[in-house]
Amino acid sequence: MVSFTKLFTLGLIAALTEASSKRGAAYNDASLVKTLANAKSGAVSWSYNWAQEADGDMPSGVKFVPMLWGSGSVSTWTSAVEKALSGGSTHILGFNEPDMTSQADMSASSAATLYEKYITPYGDRATLISPAVTSSENSGQGLNWFKTFMSDCKSCNISALAVHWYGGSFAQLESFMTKAISTAGDYDIDEVWLTEFALDADTNGISDQATAKTFLEKSIAWLDSHPKVGGYAYFYTANGYLLTSGSVNAVGDVYVASSSSSSGSSESSTKSTKTATQTKTAAAKTTAAKTTKTAESTKTVKTTKVVTSTKKVTKTVTASKAAKTA
Ligand SMILES: *[C@@H]1O[C@H](CO)[C@@H](O)[C@H](O)[C@H]1NC(C)=O
Repeated sequence: MVSFTKLFTLGLIAALTEASSKRGAAYNDASLVKTLANAKSGAVSWSYNWAQEADGDMPSGVKFVPMLWGSGSVSTWTSAVEKALSGGSTHILGFNEPDMTSQADMSASSAATLYEKYITPYGDRATLISPAVTSSENSGQGLNWFKTFMSDCKSCNISALAVHWYGGSFAQLESFMTKAISTAGDYDIDEVWLTEFALDADTNGISDQATAKTFLEKSIAWLDSHPKVGGYAYFYTANGYLLTSGSVNAVGDVYVASSSSSSGSSESSTKSTKTATQTKTAAAKTTAAKTTKTAESTKTVKTTKVVTSTKKVTKTVTASKAAKTA
């Protein structure tokens, strides 16, 4: 027989797990965040719109995360971030794809200078997230850009790495995220935030709902259960994507549904004290045999902050897995 206390405890755990959902809403139209969040209570815990201000009210339980998009956005930043923090924001996002000429387009060193000047000062009031880099494997882009940035930003007090991913399958997403988590670990960063992700085929609107649903189901289960994933946001909370004509569609339903393996782990609270020099030698890694292919994907985002752009994404397909060496 199950006691009332046990049932109560289980219920409490379920409630806490729900409350710590990692799921975010990336949006341009704040009213759609409300629609998505209201589809299932507690399913969406945070939101962002690639901007400094929410541009509309967030539903209760959804925390807005301000972003300093790029070097051109610094003049209004201080007042906007102060407003966000007094409105309950607990996290701050850095620059948007500084590794891409079509996006924030910044060298790692100038990004580090601006990060330290404009974001680091809020380290005692919010969790600071790194600039969001793409999954490109080209030199000077993606995690390579991030590594150079971190060597220039040793005193930036960054607690999480933000990444974007577009690709062909869940397996590729898992492989990229595993690599991102490992790279973050090299800098004593124990959270990764996936702040944009979708299949390549869906960057201009979902092309096939059944395929998108299967991809999301697998992705959410993995992201929810991985203790190093701090947050994620599918691209994106808009008509043609998670909604159709202002209502949550079948893909949106999958996005807000709880994953069976949802953990909402809060183990990341045990944070090691950060030292100025975070040197850590990465263990020698066996390199997997890889074939690289380049794909062009066009992403159209209607916003004044995010300029319509053509994105060049380099994808790496792991052809065979390397044996793990302990
Ligand atoms: C650095 O970040 C940590 C974790 O968010 C925070 O507790 C600490 O106050 C920050 N340090 C400074 C100097 O802001």
